[in-house]
Amino acid sequence: MTEPDLDHHRSGDAVTEELRADVVAGLTAEQKWLPPKWFYDAEGSELFEKITQLPEYYPTRSEREVLAAHAGDVAELTGAHTLVELGSGSSEKTRLLLDALTKHGTLAAFVPLDVSESALVDAARSISADYPGLEVRGVVGDFTQHLDLLPGDGPRVVAFLGGTIGNFLPAERATFLRSVREVLDEGEWLLLGTDLVKDAETLERAYDDAAGVTAEFDMNVLRVLNARLGANFDLDEFEHVSHWDAEHEWVEMRLRARRELTVGIPGADLTVRFAAGEHIRTEISAKFRPGGVEAELAAAGFALDQWWTDSQQRFGVSLARSVRG
Ligand code: SAH
Ligand code: TRP
Repeated sequence: MTEPDLDHHRSGDAVTEELRADVVAGLTAEQKWLPPKWFYDAEGSELFEKITQLPEYYPTRSEREVLAAHAGDVAELTGAHTLVELGSGSSEKTRLLLDALTKHGTLAAFVPLDVSESALVDAARSISADYPGLEVRGVVGDFTQHLDLLPGDGPRVVAFLGGTIGNFLPAERATFLRSVREVLDEGEWLLLGTDLVKDAETLERAYDDAAGVTAEFDMNVLRVLNARLGANFDLDEFEHVSHWDAEHEWVEMRLRARRELTVGIPGADLTVRFAAGEHIRTEISAKFRPGGVEAELAAAGFALDQWWTDSQQRFGVSLARSVRG
């Protein structure tokens, strides 16, 4: 078995401490919320892979269509030596980029980064087995904290796929794009996947499928709190809701208490009360318009070079070049 290199920036104790702080901040707030990265333990990552195969969840298929059509353009335009992927998960679509860059002959290293160690290790192993000669260096880390620790020779392309950029609030998004720009040298590249604004029904169904997989995924954050902080959330007392917020242009994922509840979270020294119908916001998934993406990239120090969409114009992929910041 080929064993890829792994850099680890998340120790168990520090992670529990971070979870505790996030839970205290989020569940004592007037509008309760939790940061989305806590969905992704091993089980959460597996559930997410199932989401990507659901008939209602079009983003994965639409983005794959764009990458299949334009991975060769990415290789020719960038001549990348290193492909970095943030929030890489299974890196399944990324193989289209690896194929094109390998064929082009410039690629030396692939650096996937994810908070989910299990997803990262599986992906890094199977990619190093399938791409002999490619240096695969997995990084277990947080893309809001560990971007300065990325290895690899330039020119680099940083891929951020799946519409994960939409899971930040707008101000966090601006900070994140700036921080990516800061670790890149002038002329290096960002390949960014953004889901696009469309009708409410398509959007809400993409995040609330008939088979209930998305609901299971959303609930997984409560399982993580039960396991890591000894909380006593009863999953049957909550229901999953996806709501299109037309003003902010994002889908909001919520876990709504079916009745009045009190939940103990001993690992965070916290008791949380829910009124009947009160919800925790577990994630937003912002949807974009082409002009908006270009403007946000420009504000962060990136010049848009290419803008591609799938045949149904559901999902956009931008190739942008870092310019003098
Ligand atoms: N890129 C894949 C997976 C998208 S799901 C795709 O397009 O299908 C989002 C991924 O980001 C998950 O693998 C999750 O573990 C990871 N992730 C979420 N928050 C993160 C954070 N703060 N830092 C690093 N990875 C994170
Ligand atoms: N990055 C994915 C997205 O915004 C994450 C995601 C997909 C998700 N389905 C979900 C998060 C359901 C929470 C609940 O599309």
